[in-house]
Amino acid sequence: MPGLVVLGAQWGDEGKGRIVDLLAADAQVVARYQGGHNAGHTVVVAGQTLKLHQIPAGITRAGVLCVIGNGAVVEPLSLVAEMDEVARLGFDLGQLRISRAAHLILPYHQALDQAQELSRGAAAIGTTGRGIGPAYADKAAREGLRAEELVHFDSFAAHFRQAAAAKNEMLVRLYGQPALDVEAMLEQLRPVAARLAPHIADTSLLVHQALRKGQRVLFEGAQGTLLDIDHGTYPFVTSSNPVAGGACVGVGVGPSEITRVLGVVKAYTTRVGGGPFPCELSDEVGEHLVRMGAEFGTTTGRRRRCGWLDTVVVRYAARLSGFTGLAVTKLDVLSGLPRLRICTAYRCGGVVTEDWPPVGHSLADCEPIYEELPGWSESLGAVRRWDDLPPTAQRYVGRIEALVGIPVDLVSVGPEREQLIVRRDAWT
Ligand code: IMP
Repeated sequence: MPGLVVLGAQWGDEGKGRIVDLLAADAQVVARYQGGHNAGHTVVVAGQTLKLHQIPAGITRAGVLCVIGNGAVVEPLSLVAEMDEVARLGFDLGQLRISRAAHLILPYHQALDQAQELSRGAAAIGTTGRGIGPAYADKAAREGLRAEELVHFDSFAAHFRQAAAAKNEMLVRLYGQPALDVEAMLEQLRPVAARLAPHIADTSLLVHQALRKGQRVLFEGAQGTLLDIDHGTYPFVTSSNPVAGGACVGVGVGPSEITRVLGVVKAYTTRVGGGPFPCELSDEVGEHLVRMGAEFGTTTGRRRRCGWLDTVVVRYAARLSGFTGLAVTKLDVLSGLPRLRICTAYRCGGVVTEDWPPVGHSLADCEPIYEELPGWSESLGAVRRWDDLPPTAQRYVGRIEALVGIPVDLVSVGPEREQLIVRRDAWT
């Protein structure tokens, strides 16, 4: 009964979607455990690009049960639009299940997120504006509406009217924004509720039953470790727990069900939105990474900030989630850079640390300490075997293993499904 968690080891956008897509070939269940439509997973199948925000990346595999867990937040309108797109590309939605306990992102959450960001001025977090923070805030305040309520639309509508009236007060009085039209929002939600209702289930039970049958369950994280609300670069974080422990809470399984944890590491570092980023590059190497890596957000289209690989960050992520293996993605993007750098430690004030900055220091005060390695000029897109990688590329990946202390199971060398080097089975 293997339970494998796949999560991002950096600030999100590590390429988890394509890794989940690959590993889902050997899974019977893929369960998303946190986040909402702030996430964007791109999967390229037979030349078709599928951009997923809420539906687990396993949806491209026939017969795989795809679960949106209770730890996720569900935006009903965009979920239905995403379901339509998935169906249009010929994938089966019959296997999609949404946890009855997943909280809903409603239009007023989105309006509040945007109003709050505006009011933060220079201290803005740079959220995706999708309503994530306000939806999780309502969950914690015990004021949220959950997916299960969509099944009985009349009682949902009563609860919605009450909640929306309170949010309108906030929008108008606190943020000087226009009030939202409550009845118009409800009319938009009515057909959507009917579409989603057949997919709403006790997903913890479904996952439990699968595990008892000895089936393989893949727990899919969104965003990344450094965006974790508890362990990330607070307050420049998202409002959920991408770390592996979030998989237990966010799907409703015990920790003993998790047998493997795969950390997905981009071969360099990117971040979207505000917040500290010690290895950020604003030179021509940063430009190379943006251009060659197509570093623009799947959800918002924003240009990602790029920098050298930071192994302090990845070691920290490995500690928090107990990685058993790593998947290194986008190694091909580094082709053509004559010298490569890897951050091995920070200098924070007078202190040198290979760990997360000590108490009294923040990431914003840390300077990276780099090690330099030779690069390679060959393009890697056609490489499928470890032995066929240029020796300098092998050495780069080998340094990641040594510096993080975790084996690299997979290396991706391009966006297509088959552009991958498998060194070890991540499931076993
Ligand atoms: P929120 O999750 O929309 O509230 O945004 C909070 C922070 O997390 C912002 O810096 C976002 O740019 C970042 N973020 C949210 N989702 C993703 C993602 O899927 N990839 C990368 N960054 C993200």
